[in-house]
Amino acid sequence: MKMIDSSSLELSSDSMLSVVGSQFSAAFGAGVEPQTTDNRQLTTRVAIAGATGYAGAELEKILRRHKHANVVAAYSSGSFSLEALFAARPEVVFLATPNEVSAEVVPAILDAGIKVIDLSGAFRLGEPSLYPSWYGFTHARPELLGEAVYGLPEWCNGELKKARLVANPGCYPTSILLALRPLTYLLDRTQPVICDSKSGVSGAGKKADVAFSFSELFGNFKAYGVGQHRHEPEIRQGLHLGERAALVFVPHLIPTVRGIYSTMHVAFTSPVTDEELTGLYRDSYADAPFVRMLPAGQMPELKDVVNTPYAEIGFQLLHGGRRAVIVSVIDNLLKGAASQAVQNFNRMLGYAETEGLL
Ligand SMILES: NC(=O)c1ccc[n+]([C@@H]2O[C@H](COP(=O)([O-])OP(=O)(O)OC[C@H]3O[C@@H](n4cnc5c(N)ncnc54)[C@H](OP(=O)(O)O)[C@@H]3O)[C@@H](O)[C@H]2O)c1
Repeated sequence: MKMIDSSSLELSSDSMLSVVGSQFSAAFGAGVEPQTTDNRQLTTRVAIAGATGYAGAELEKILRRHKHANVVAAYSSGSFSLEALFAARPEVVFLATPNEVSAEVVPAILDAGIKVIDLSGAFRLGEPSLYPSWYGFTHARPELLGEAVYGLPEWCNGELKKARLVANPGCYPTSILLALRPLTYLLDRTQPVICDSKSGVSGAGKKADVAFSFSELFGNFKAYGVGQHRHEPEIRQGLHLGERAALVFVPHLIPTVRGIYSTMHVAFTSPVTDEELTGLYRDSYADAPFVRMLPAGQMPELKDVVNTPYAEIGFQLLHGGRRAVIVSVIDNLLKGAASQAVQNFNRMLGYAETEGLL
C-alpha cells in the first residue's frame, strides 16, 4: 500500500504542480492500490477522483486537515475506476474530473448509494438541452440534472442536507453570482448585465496548451471565449435572467496563476442608495463566513483573497444610483472550486461550515 504525503501538494508554482502530478500518477497508476488513512478517527469516509489536478490537489489538502473527513482514496486518471472506488467504500465522493468523466460516472456512483460532490460543470445546468451545444455531450440520465443541488452554499438552505448530488458552481459564476444575487430583484432587465471577468491561468487546469504557456501569457492580457464560454448559461441560470434578458460575459486571462476578478456593470429599475445596497448585502450575507463586503465605494483586490476561501465584494453607485459597478474577487481553486466543495460537504453532513477551511 503506497502512502503519499499530501503536504507535498503545495500550489506554489505550475512546475511544482506538474512534478507533484507526475508523482501521483506514478503512485496511483493502474493496478496500484489507492492510499488509505483508515487509522484516523474521523467520521465520514471520502474519496477524491482527480486528486492530481489543480482543484483536486487543493481539495485533498483541505480534506486531510478536516476533523471529520477520512480520505480513504485519492485517484489520478490512471488509478481511477468504479471498481476501485467501490472497493474503498467511501460515503461521499468528490469528483474533480473533466465534465465528460463526471457525467459518465455519477449515475453509477449514486446507484451504489454514495453521495457525490462534483466540481465539474456536468450537473450544473438544469436544462438538459443546453448540454450538447455548451458542453458537447448528451446526458444519459438527464433526470439527475433536476435532482442535483447547485451548491452555492450562501444561497442554499436545507436542500444540501438532503442532497445525493451537489453540482459545485463554476469559478466565474461563483464570483458573479455572489455579487449579483442580492440585487436580482433590483436589476433593470431591459439593459444588459455586463460581467467582465479575469482569471489566472490555473482556471484552465493543468492541460498543456500553447495558449496557456508562459511565453504566451507573461506580460500579456487577453479576452477569450466571448459569447461561447460554458459558464455563460450557468450565470444566466443563476441570475434567473430567462432567455431574453441580455447578458454579456467576457472572460479574460491574466498573467497570474490563481484568482478571479469580476467587474459587473448593472442598471436598476429605480435609483438606489449606498445604504440600501449595503443593507441588502449585509442581510444576504449575515451568516456567510466566507463572504466579505467592503464599504461603499471601496474596491476589492485579488491579493486579499488568493490562497484563501473568501470572496470579497465592493460596489460603486453611478449616475445618481441608477447604475452600479460591482467588483467581486475569489481564488478560483478555493472559493471557485475546492473550499466551496468542502463548504458544501460540511453543510451536507451537518458539520460547521468553516471546518477544514480556517
Ligand atoms: N481549475 C479551476 O479553477 C476550476 C475551478 C472550478 C471547477 N473546476 C473544474 O474541476 C475539474 C477539475 O479541474 P482542474 O482544473 O483541477 O483540472 P486538471 O488540473 O486538468 O485535473 C484534472 C484531474 O482529472 C483527472 N482525470 C482526467 N481524465 C480522467 C479520467 N478519464 N478518469 C479519471 N480522472 C481523470 C486528472 O488525472 P491525471 O493527473 O492523471 O491527468 C486530474 O487529476 C474540471 O471539471 C474543472 O472544470 C476547475
